[in-house]
Amino acid sequence: MNTQLSPDRRADLLVSRMTLDEKLQLVHGHVVKWGPYRGLDQKPFPYALGGDGFVPGIPRLGISSLQLVGAGVGVTNLGLRHNGQATALPSSLAETATWDTSLARDFGAVIGRETRDRGFAVSLGGGIDLTREPRDGRNFEYHGEDPLLAGEMAGAELKAIQAQDVIADIKHYAVNDQESGRTGVSSNLDKRSMREGDLLAFEIAIKRSNVGTVMCSYNRVNDVYACENRYLLTDILKRDWGFKGWVMSDWGATHSTVAAALAGLDQEFESQYFAAPLKAAVVNGNVPISRLDDMVHRILRTMFAFHVIDDPPIITPIDFHAGAIVAQRVEEQGCVLLKNRDHLLPLKTSRLHTIAVIGSHANIGVLSGGGSSQVEPEGMAPIPPSSKARPVPVVWDPSSPVKAIAAQAPNANVIYNGGKNVASAAKLAKAADVAIVFVHQVTQEGSDLTTLELAGNQDELVKQIAAANPHIIVVAETGGAFLMPWIDQVSTVLQAWYPGIRGGQAIAAVLFGGINPSGKLPITFPKSDADLPHPVLIGPPPGGNTLHPKLFDVNYTEGLKVGYKWYDAEKKEPLFPFGFGLSYTNFAYSHLQVKTDSIVSVAFDIKNIGDRAGAEVPEVYLALPADSGEPPKRLVGWQKALLQPGETRSITVKIQPKMLAIFNVAKNAWEILPGDYRIYVGSSSRQLSLQSTFSILKSETVP
Ligand code: BGC
Repeated sequence: MNTQLSPDRRADLLVSRMTLDEKLQLVHGHVVKWGPYRGLDQKPFPYALGGDGFVPGIPRLGISSLQLVGAGVGVTNLGLRHNGQATALPSSLAETATWDTSLARDFGAVIGRETRDRGFAVSLGGGIDLTREPRDGRNFEYHGEDPLLAGEMAGAELKAIQAQDVIADIKHYAVNDQESGRTGVSSNLDKRSMREGDLLAFEIAIKRSNVGTVMCSYNRVNDVYACENRYLLTDILKRDWGFKGWVMSDWGATHSTVAAALAGLDQEFESQYFAAPLKAAVVNGNVPISRLDDMVHRILRTMFAFHVIDDPPIITPIDFHAGAIVAQRVEEQGCVLLKNRDHLLPLKTSRLHTIAVIGSHANIGVLSGGGSSQVEPEGMAPIPPSSKARPVPVVWDPSSPVKAIAAQAPNANVIYNGGKNVASAAKLAKAADVAIVFVHQVTQEGSDLTTLELAGNQDELVKQIAAANPHIIVVAETGGAFLMPWIDQVSTVLQAWYPGIRGGQAIAAVLFGGINPSGKLPITFPKSDADLPHPVLIGPPPGGNTLHPKLFDVNYTEGLKVGYKWYDAEKKEPLFPFGFGLSYTNFAYSHLQVKTDSIVSVAFDIKNIGDRAGAEVPEVYLALPADSGEPPKRLVGWQKALLQPGETRSITVKIQPKMLAIFNVAKNAWEILPGDYRIYVGSSSRQLSLQSTFSILKSETVP
């Protein structure tokens, strides 16, 4: 307990004093979500709080127990804790759509603080997955389709979680792109595409945040289960990236004892491979004791590094007010204005007598994503979650858009219609000055969408209302991208994602202009399912069940062409491109200068040429030499800037050397190629008003 010693030294001292059984106790986690105080092996754990996982401590050596809780978009409660409410933050995609790492830090600080306040030492969250499958039911938990954006945003969030003296987690490592048959699928992908895309996002986030744990995923990667994949766990994560924390399995994602232990898995949950079988393997020498010591060392050194042994979490009341302020700001900055014909927004209260609000329970709440990331919102869900919902309950957070809209327009008559009956909703819309239609898309862990089309009568509803009243605003509460067959008929679209506990207030603030929108899409919105790299989602073959599907393959032959890179390379026009988002003001770009000293830096001016203050996200893209084998361009930097009307700002974006490089598989190294490069700067991946070129003469490897 000498706090003067380094975490590594303290871990070594402990390991040297531990018995074999004590070591094994730390690497076999228990799952308490199936009944209060009971592990899978039915051992009573009187100290388990009822989070997602529990590892009993060793009082003789001063090692505290590890309590783990899901916390991707706020601290979860899967129903076992009486006092389990927490701040329901907007989705990770909404967070990413802010393109603002300082807001990602605020988001993480709320998660870290509340994790500790609820008595937990480890928060399970920090989802990364590059949206190779836009119908994936968990995209709302992830940080979008671009590796740099996802890595920087998740990295900032995770660092802020750990600044609260809890251990954070990044998941699901790796290429866990679909829920359908998630334990049977092999995600097949060439190494270069993996390193430059899917894994680069993890690499950036892990290096920025020094995150304490990595959760390996359910799926196989190139035929080998992620949790026994030596290439992923040891060769890349621990050796190439120097990861010092520990690898935990997703719940039930371990499939072997010796193979998993030797591949680099350090701790299992919801399985028995690291219980008696690991003991036997260590005793008979199939797993060297040095490997078990390394597992334990990694766990203990991380617990010391983030102070959960010296200063264990103590249950403390949550500051819901502080959490709600962050939830609202993230949504205000993260919702994306996609269309605004004739400047219908911001709404001018003086001209509005009747406002029709239609659909998606907008009278009582806003939608959240389902599954193990489910937060129990403060104030409880306004519609009792139906136990019949598939596969998990659908939870609406108690933040009423109708009430928030009425508060913004106190002199107007705000009338709500549920939208079930299209004719009656259209009649209401016709009689109103403006119709605000809320549409939604339910997405959940454990299932994928079969199509990006909106479910039920929603497209018909929008079309009929657009026909009844040209002043129609569509507000979308969705897990990710969706199709808009009515886009030409509507004036305005505001993409609100899953908006969180202050979603109603945030949306209303944008609609009425208190907030000038500045969010930009972190994913491409396609025109149709047919435009996706995989027009039809491949599910498991018949014969298995949800937990044990038959093994099958998904071949990501599009390789490097993920998200916008696919649409660029295939010359397909998206519905809305990556990086796109409107403001109530306009910006002009000028004076591009590219310097290629020791580091490439890109300088330019942006000017607010409208009449109100607003924030812009200038995006910098790079085209690599024609013979590099790369898609047409990649995002290499950005900066968010708030500008007063008429103000001009000089922006400099420095490009990290790795963002100029390709991954050379033969050399197992990042390499900058000689040749001609082109820089593009602008307000989305398809609006790039400034361009310049530079050359690199010699090839160079970068760390
Ligand atoms: C999910 C993980 C989650 C774990 C614990 C799993 O089913 O895939 O993301 O952390 O359960 O709840």
